[in-house]
Amino acid sequence: MRDLTPDPATLEPVETASRDELTALQLERLRASLRHMYEHVPLYRKRFDEAGLRPDDVRDLADLRAFPFTTKQDLRDAYPFGMLAVPREQALRVHASSGTTGSATLVAYTRRDLDTWADLVARSIRASGGRPGDVVHVAYGYGLFTGGLGAHYGAERLGCTVVPVSGGQTARQVQLIRELRPDVIMVTPSYLLAVLDEFRAQGHDPAASSLAVAICGAEPWTPGMRDEIEAAFDMHAVDIYGLSEVMGPGVANECVETKDGLHVWEDHFYPEVVDPVTGEPLPDGEWGELVLTTLTREASPVVRYRTRDLTRLLPGTARTFRRMEKVTGRSDDMVIVRGVNLFPTQVEELVLAMPGLAPHFRLVLSRPERLDLLTVEVEARPEAGTADRAAAGNRLEERVKQALGVSCVVDVREPGELPRSLGKIQRVLDRR
Ligand code: DLL
Repeated sequence: MRDLTPDPATLEPVETASRDELTALQLERLRASLRHMYEHVPLYRKRFDEAGLRPDDVRDLADLRAFPFTTKQDLRDAYPFGMLAVPREQALRVHASSGTTGSATLVAYTRRDLDTWADLVARSIRASGGRPGDVVHVAYGYGLFTGGLGAHYGAERLGCTVVPVSGGQTARQVQLIRELRPDVIMVTPSYLLAVLDEFRAQGHDPAASSLAVAICGAEPWTPGMRDEIEAAFDMHAVDIYGLSEVMGPGVANECVETKDGLHVWEDHFYPEVVDPVTGEPLPDGEWGELVLTTLTREASPVVRYRTRDLTRLLPGTARTFRRMEKVTGRSDDMVIVRGVNLFPTQVEELVLAMPGLAPHFRLVLSRPERLDLLTVEVEARPEAGTADRAAAGNRLEERVKQALGVSCVVDVREPGELPRSLGKIQRVLDRR
């Protein structure tokens, strides 16, 4: 793998500022942002008034804790433009959340919002090891989803040559990668696996490709999946996080030189972690639900937005900004099987640690009689023989029982049998 550590001289001053400088900037921006919300969004004004809170009373970042949360339901109720904080004519673009869990929410961007977004994705690509002049293959979907266009404008902002492929047409993705020789690919980890299969199906060695780094996000993925991708392509794989309600991709990104969690671009987003049930703020280091407040957004600012993503905050390392640990899942991805809670990422870790099994799997829940049945459908690796497959299946059943406390049936499938994702993967099929 190439050493992609960025030259420190190319970092923005704020990335290595002192914590005090950063805090001062955050406080100034927080007050301005709360004032903007209070003055321009009736829902926020009403809620702040009801709680007896005035933006100008905020003296300290910790004062934010008194402010009410914003939820996905608030945004849905305001669909399409009920929470817009600028005249509609100043919104140059809209995007929508993927709507995997219910109806869509719409967010808007002013010219300055689009500018900030491009800057932050450029910063994310640089943190990932990309640099001006690189060729960047964008395989995130273009459209209302923020992935494609978000990646696109960020890569242009950094000064890269963008190949705007979008998702799908996997054979063509491989052809373009072989012909245009990109340094960087931006893609969901699950779709990257489909691209990987296609490389092999066409008889090409993925490790011989030009790719030096994959910037993967939009869905949870485990360190085991990172190892799988890095080994297959002989490239780095780093994590990018974001959500449309807060901006899109580029809210947080891993640094390629440390790969130790995602630095939250705290000069634009203020992160908190709260207890998902009580909403109580938790100290850094404790696991809970990520809550984000936008510090600079004009068109669609949010205060204490409940992301439902589970993680924890850690001190900065390669940058001044705090890190968030890789997201293990959303609280609503949690599957409850006979009273036991589990996340697809927990199964992913076990699958990837099992020789003979490929990283393609899904969880199927059914209730054949009166009890829940969890079936893990997982593909065998092509090189695994019949006996190895059966043995790996049995071992996975044991490991799931041991590690997660729930019995399951493992159904080992032929390579290529399970559906491939083109974007965000659906890991759970609930037939109950
Ligand atoms: O998925 C934005 C994005 C695009 C991020 C491309 C990264 C790359 P939404 O469609 O609004 O936006 O979905 C946001 O996806 O709340 C998380 O549950 C999940 N998610 C996003 N990035 C990660 C990640 C985009 N790196 C929702 N790890 C978020 C785990 C992620 N989950």
